[in-house]
Amino acid sequence: MRVVRAKHAGVCYGVERALDMAVVAMMDEDDTHTLGPLIHNPTVVKQLEEQGVKVAKSVDDIESGIVVIRSHGVEPHVMQQLKDKGLTVIDATCPHVAKAQRSAGELRDAGGTVIVIGRAEHPEVKGLCGHAGERAVVVADVDELPDDLIEPVGIVVQTTESKEKLEAVVEAVRARGIEPVVKNTICFATRQRQNSAADLADEVDAIVVIGGKNSSNTTHLYDICKAHCERSYFIERVDEIDPAWFAGCETVGVTAGASTPDDQICAVVDYLETL
Ligand code: F3S
Repeated sequence: MRVVRAKHAGVCYGVERALDMAVVAMMDEDDTHTLGPLIHNPTVVKQLEEQGVKVAKSVDDIESGIVVIRSHGVEPHVMQQLKDKGLTVIDATCPHVAKAQRSAGELRDAGGTVIVIGRAEHPEVKGLCGHAGERAVVVADVDELPDDLIEPVGIVVQTTESKEKLEAVVEAVRARGIEPVVKNTICFATRQRQNSAADLADEVDAIVVIGGKNSSNTTHLYDICKAHCERSYFIERVDEIDPAWFAGCETVGVTAGASTPDDQICAVVDYLETL
């Protein structure tokens, strides 16, 4: 069985940067925390915990030391709470997320409804809403567009969303006779990974998508693969693979979300090559 890895897959610039910043912080100070899991990859988060990086659920859980803000960013009031407590803050917010936050702030200042496309429960979306202000509405899909939109309507999008979803929301707003101000904040790494996954899924008999089940960008990659290749499988670890999935396959593709380190991808590729 031939195993082909997607041209662009795995850890992105923002995740790598956040991991590096957490490791440097941990070497400087034993009392190091992340506010929430640093990245959406349970294996990596466990490894960091074993090295001493504590995962705090909320600001209330941190009394001293260093706190690392993860790549997803936080709401402005959370940042203020951390500073008010006198904690040392290492801001590992991905620069692309920071740009999306600034865009959300600009749309807030324009004064109308700010549509934030993404999953309401996702930390990045919570952070974007914090910057977008009181008139922010989160829309996971075009069907969730509210009836009442106050002009000027602005649209900002979670960095790991798909362009198809953004386009659908823009078209639906236009269909109401409103020309929205669109901030396409989908990051370059996400677009590269989505395009590579779609291209590869078209070519192979089956495809394996590696990443945390709680990872938005990996879930989108899986959805894209599934739309292009019926035999798509979403795994977190190599031991979840069932060899029966690949019966009769000549070529299998492998892709991975932006929080999946290279060693996890290599482990899957190596295993598939033994089949
Ligand atoms: Fe940043 Fe994009 Fe990665 S927003 S964290 S480079 S997926």
